[in-house]
Amino acid sequence: MAVLPILHHPDPRLRRKTPPVERFDQDLQRLIDDMFETMYAAPGVGLAANQVGVQLRLAVMDCSDEHDQPLVMINPELVMTDDPQEVEEGCLSVPDIRDKIRRYNKLRLRALDRNGQPYELEADGLMAQCIQHEIDHLDGKLYIDYLSSLKRERIRKKLQKAAVAGG
Ligand code: NI
Repeated sequence: MAVLPILHHPDPRLRRKTPPVERFDQDLQRLIDDMFETMYAAPGVGLAANQVGVQLRLAVMDCSDEHDQPLVMINPELVMTDDPQEVEEGCLSVPDIRDKIRRYNKLRLRALDRNGQPYELEADGLMAQCIQHEIDHLDGKLYIDYLSSLKRERIRKKLQKAAVAGG
């Protein structure tokens, strides 16, 4: 397994809508394992494939404190949403910044697991928030898109400055 470099906003690769996964081969299994290792090392609660430069509709998640509830979402879609509320959010691709946005508190997810088997699950709270965040990634969206243009511009400048300083 390997920890992969995570792309940062405003990298254009974060802005593409990812195509569905069609091949469930050894390369995909290795990628999923590397994404989990990368997410746990960051540390983060979710990671989408396009955040590590792979254009596939695949994300990994684990919202537990003990890192014992790994979830693989392949070709995910929301089939029900309810109860929008304001939550605080951050993103590994937008480092050191958090802000408040609106997310659904309840949802129903339909996706494939790492072997291509379909499943559905209902989630609420942090897990529901995280699922929406990852599906947004796979659609080429970032949570900062929900902020005002003034805030977004401030964040873009701050991250550009940090990227220059870091070489
Ligand atoms: Ni993110």
